[in-house]
Amino acid sequence: MKVLVIGSGGREHALAWRLQRDHPHVALFIAPGNAGTARLGTNLSFPATDLAALESWAMTEKPNLTVVGPEAPLCAGIVDRFEAAGLPIFGPRVAAARLEGSKVFTKAFLLKNKLPTAPGASFTDSDAARVYLRSRTLPQVIKADGLAAGKGVIIARTPEEADDAVTRIMDDRVFGAAGAAVVIEDFLPGREMSIHVLTDGRAHVILPISQDHKKLRDEDLGPNTGGMGAYAPAPFATPEIHDRVAREIVEPVLAAFRADGIDFRGILYIGLIWTEAHGPQILEFNVRGGDPETQVLLPLLETPLIDVLHAVWAQKLGECAVRFNALKAVTVVMAAEGYPDQPVTGSTIEGLDFDLPGTYVFHGGTREEGKTAVSSGGRVLSVTAWANDLQQAREMAYQRVAKIHFAGNHYRRDIAARLTL
Ligand code: GLY
Repeated sequence: MKVLVIGSGGREHALAWRLQRDHPHVALFIAPGNAGTARLGTNLSFPATDLAALESWAMTEKPNLTVVGPEAPLCAGIVDRFEAAGLPIFGPRVAAARLEGSKVFTKAFLLKNKLPTAPGASFTDSDAARVYLRSRTLPQVIKADGLAAGKGVIIARTPEEADDAVTRIMDDRVFGAAGAAVVIEDFLPGREMSIHVLTDGRAHVILPISQDHKKLRDEDLGPNTGGMGAYAPAPFATPEIHDRVAREIVEPVLAAFRADGIDFRGILYIGLIWTEAHGPQILEFNVRGGDPETQVLLPLLETPLIDVLHAVWAQKLGECAVRFNALKAVTVVMAAEGYPDQPVTGSTIEGLDFDLPGTYVFHGGTREEGKTAVSSGGRVLSVTAWANDLQQAREMAYQRVAKIHFAGNHYRRDIAARLTL
């Protein structure tokens, strides 16, 4: 069996790791991969967004399945392109990928279908956006319409911050074309949670609820990041909360997809906030697994991953018994000096050989230099552990973190430390 994994982060290393753990003889190709994936398979030199190179490689090599990790190739239409060429691929087509690629599209979809979400509006004119902001109670959330590598969301707490956000996104175009339009919505206080739903457009499976830690520093301080650590299942996600998420969020969302002709096949990640006043509210959709959430979800999967991915691709998810084990998983992201603004790269990573059963170090921003792993991005490693209880998994993850060193590295010390809703 031959599988192509597209992407280069901790999520893609986790996908490759899991595929190989289930099937040790799988031939893995990762485009472009990192120093960690190089130990599991063959890294290809194409960037994840070079659709022509990926298609040409796949036409020659004919992988049994291609799995797309990040949103950029999905939003650029890689699935449509592979499908047209008769190549099996896991992920949503470009029309459904707009749910992540355009915040304006998604807000209109949520409001039109009366799905639980904050009141808000969309603008293509910066003066109109400012007039609207002056009419609302602060804080307000200002989101660039397009993909902005997780940086396009600004929470404005003062009139000056609101004005500045509009200027930066729409007038100065700090996120490029992604800032041609914005969504502005009320800020909702509450507890964020990550809901992952596998669906083939017919059946669906809700994965264990996970929790990301988006802020850079302990106690949720500092700037937003792509995610500094995660755990799953979240203990606050009681059966009652699961039930409400299924009934109030997932089922109505999938019904609205069907009503609006959105044929979503792949993994839908619903960013949710649990508010005291109104229960679960939808913040955003992502059209792929979270990073670092995927790193804590895959150790919980009982069913071989390829069976699940294949069932979604073949639209036979209803016939696939997707099971989870009773383990709990924690991942701690070790980041480069200067992350998230200007990560310093090129540091040699030491301590990767130390082994501790029930742990695994997923590489993100790393590359190989001979036999050495060197940092090459902001989120360098996701140090992951799984055990029978979350506290034990947390201790194991930090035990492993303590053995790893690279110049200027930093990480949060409070991942999975606050477990109640
Ligand atoms: N952890 C947040 C994301 O993957 O978007």
